[in-house]
Amino acid sequence: MTAAEPLGVPWSAHAVRGADGAVRVAGVDVRDLAAEQGTPAYVLDEADFRDRARSVRTALEAAFGAVGAGVDVYYAGKAFLSVAVARWAHEEGLRVDTSTGGELAVALRAGVPGEHLGLHGNNKSDAELARALEAGVGRIIVDSLGELDRVVAAVRARGAGAEPAPVMVRVTTGVHAGGHEYISTAHEDQKFGLSVATPPGGGDSPAMTALTTVLRHPELRLLGIHSHIGSQILDPAGFAVAARSVLALRAELAERTGHLVPEVDLGGGFGIAYLPGEEVPDLPRIAEEIAAAVAGACTELGTPLPRLSFEPGRAVAGPTTLTLYTVGTVKPVSLEAGRSRLYVAVDGGMSDNIRPALYGAHYHAALVSRTGSAETVLARVVGKHCESGDIVVHEVQLPADVRPGDLLAVAATGAYGRSMASNYNHVPRPPVVAVRDGATRVLVRRETEDDLLALDLG
Ligand code: LLP
Repeated sequence: MTAAEPLGVPWSAHAVRGADGAVRVAGVDVRDLAAEQGTPAYVLDEADFRDRARSVRTALEAAFGAVGAGVDVYYAGKAFLSVAVARWAHEEGLRVDTSTGGELAVALRAGVPGEHLGLHGNNKSDAELARALEAGVGRIIVDSLGELDRVVAAVRARGAGAEPAPVMVRVTTGVHAGGHEYISTAHEDQKFGLSVATPPGGGDSPAMTALTTVLRHPELRLLGIHSHIGSQILDPAGFAVAARSVLALRAELAERTGHLVPEVDLGGGFGIAYLPGEEVPDLPRIAEEIAAAVAGACTELGTPLPRLSFEPGRAVAGPTTLTLYTVGTVKPVSLEAGRSRLYVAVDGGMSDNIRPALYGAHYHAALVSRTGSAETVLARVVGKHCESGDIVVHEVQLPADVRPGDLLAVAATGAYGRSMASNYNHVPRPPVVAVRDGATRVLVRRETEDDLLALDLG
């Protein structure tokens, strides 16, 4: 190999293997990064994050602009949120979707204006609602009838003359999409949203009841209807079906009350590639399909187009980050029929990436501190935790000479990696280190044993 070679999908845009066999991300050699920051570490390619944020936004703006609709894009902070990334999202023209008081606090600390924030949650506390109103959030996405009463009370508590709360009603359309049952949120037997379906005994759907209730309250301003159908969605058809259902509900509400809600939010969920060679439909094409479905449905229903919004998390953050580990124990394990598998243990595991254990998610790994032997072996990358389900990568071909002290990286861990990390077995959580133009910057520092002990009051 002579020049640096891009690693390609599923790695971040600026990950290359140099002529000496070691990987650099945005000009930073992973060996230097490991020496300075230690491992495990999440290595976030800043320019890739910014480019993805911008290109998701521009793809949606172009597709909806072409049919005559405006669009706002909210970065879903649950995928990964820190003060710096909230700022990047803001600088790239995105708004920020938060789902708890904690995420709201981070976005506010970043200086994202309140009106560019949304607050989600199926069980928001009164304190979270009060704080959202105080911050002047642009939208509270209401998830139940009981919550409507609590938002009304929170507005009243702010005193006479308080601004009405801008609310969207989250509905479930029966569309089930995405990678795993637990990450698909719009089918009926689950905790989110209000169903658009007529109840068995007849009468208004819970969604319609919530919408008409909002309209009756001067403390509330009805912005629109929200639908999020799932995550890691690779087929845009689900979005189109959900959009038609939401737009039909919007038209029905207008017919009954004369109030045509100005906005429709179709949530997040755009899928990414986790493995080399994995085909992922490109976002401009998905955006065009959704825009065509929205425009078609509005024509059929005879209603003007709403303003649209979307809440991508994974598609912005996921591919931008790799997790850098040091290899420890390497152990061949015999399988049936004379086969064997090399168990390669790294210095992290299910505490920094729970997705394989929780969803059976598949990841890709590579030796990154050197090229390694041309001969490869069937390997399984495991962590250091005390259970056999502590698997980071189920199956991957690694150089046969992989050995203790090597650096191993797992690709596409930027979404739901650090944000779902735990302290299982009292393992401190890794830092998030941004790399850009040859420079590193720690966004979230490594947790220490002292941090953990500080919580333990003895
Ligand atoms: N908006 C709402 C209302 C959501 O519930 C979610 C994700 C998103 C936006 C962002 O979805 P994304 O674009 O990232 O797919 N922990 C799971 C994913 C849970 C997603 C929950 N909601 C995972 O690791 O796959």
